[in-house]
Amino acid sequence: MCFSRLKKEQLKEVMKRMMREMDRGLRVETHQESSVKMLPTYVYSTPEGSEVGDFLALDLGGTNFRVMLVKVGEDEERGWKVETKHQMYSIPEDAMTGTAEMLFDYIAECISDFLDRHHIKHRKLPLGFTFSFPVRHEDIDKGILLNWTKGFKASGAEGNNVVGLLRDAIKRRGDFEMDVVAMVNDTVATMISCYYEDRSCEVGMIVGTGCNACYMEEMRTVELVEGEEGRMCVNTEWGAFGANGELEEFRLEYDRVVDETSLNPGQQLYEKLISGKYMGELVRVVLLKLVNEELLFNGEASDLLKTRGSFETRYVSQIESDSGDRKQIYNILSTLGVLPSEMDCDIVRLACESVSTRAAHMCGAGLAAVINRMRERRSQEVLKITVGVDGSVYKLHPW
Ligand code: GLC
Repeated sequence: MCFSRLKKEQLKEVMKRMMREMDRGLRVETHQESSVKMLPTYVYSTPEGSEVGDFLALDLGGTNFRVMLVKVGEDEERGWKVETKHQMYSIPEDAMTGTAEMLFDYIAECISDFLDRHHIKHRKLPLGFTFSFPVRHEDIDKGILLNWTKGFKASGAEGNNVVGLLRDAIKRRGDFEMDVVAMVNDTVATMISCYYEDRSCEVGMIVGTGCNACYMEEMRTVELVEGEEGRMCVNTEWGAFGANGELEEFRLEYDRVVDETSLNPGQQLYEKLISGKYMGELVRVVLLKLVNEELLFNGEASDLLKTRGSFETRYVSQIESDSGDRKQIYNILSTLGVLPSEMDCDIVRLACESVSTRAAHMCGAGLAAVINRMRERRSQEVLKITVGVDGSVYKLHPW
């Protein structure tokens, strides 16, 4: 099998299967076996924009951990004003893959550092936590981590209340206090912040280290939660789509290699076709195959290119941004230890384009599933809606 463009019919099939799994995820009888979990978020309706005051915000879910101070105030013209100070902290490998205590102690340490820097350690601020993993919520400030994704592995967290883990770590330190008021997925945070600008934003999507979407669903069809009136935001966790074999005829030998050598084989199969955690690695596996067939680099790969993870996803964006003189491509390949010919550069670019185009098409099929579902539920012929989008791949990739 090779990398040819997916046909419209195939993408429609992906969309249909996604719609079916979404439906199964929402229903009590089929929720357990569905690959798309459709997790209720307890975010009932989007904010009015009348919330005012100082807040602390945490963001955990990619390669960095972010702490922010957010000031929301009244503004005469627009009705609100948001000011932020923020600080990034990189998460050491051992905190990601050690114990949950180690990870949350590190998080508490970062918060403590942030509060010191901004001289606000004495204040007990309300805290909102963007935690970008599958969480089964019992309320907006309570939910258990179902499973880690995207290379996180800290033991003792799965099956536990994430807000509890955070509160315990803050207590263990004992040098500051926080009032944890809400925990949301990054897709939900993206949807809400976009809603401040545009009241028709009812979908949030992330194409970054991982890939996922949320949207406003009719309460009466969210069977896992009581109540019939209004809408609730549902975190689809569509990255896990494919766990029931729904993607088998679309997955290629490269996808299988990337999956088998990942930290979570067999899981997040849809995400592995799309997101930044895997895109560079997919390209690397494709290139190695071409080298083995003596179609690239005179049939010789460098040791670095043979090393898992060496082809970073940002290279894909940079290579596709090359202006045409191949300089950028040449430089990247040189840092990977190969000296490419012009033809090699063109082939590498083509490999990147094939992988990223397929990612975009697959992701588009998922988004079409979400929006078509919303349109059908609202019995509308045409639905006009805004999608809030964020994530490193979305922001850095040129197309
Ligand atoms: C992974 C997580 C999901 C998150 C997404 C984007 O798919 O499971 O919760 O929204 O990555 O960060």
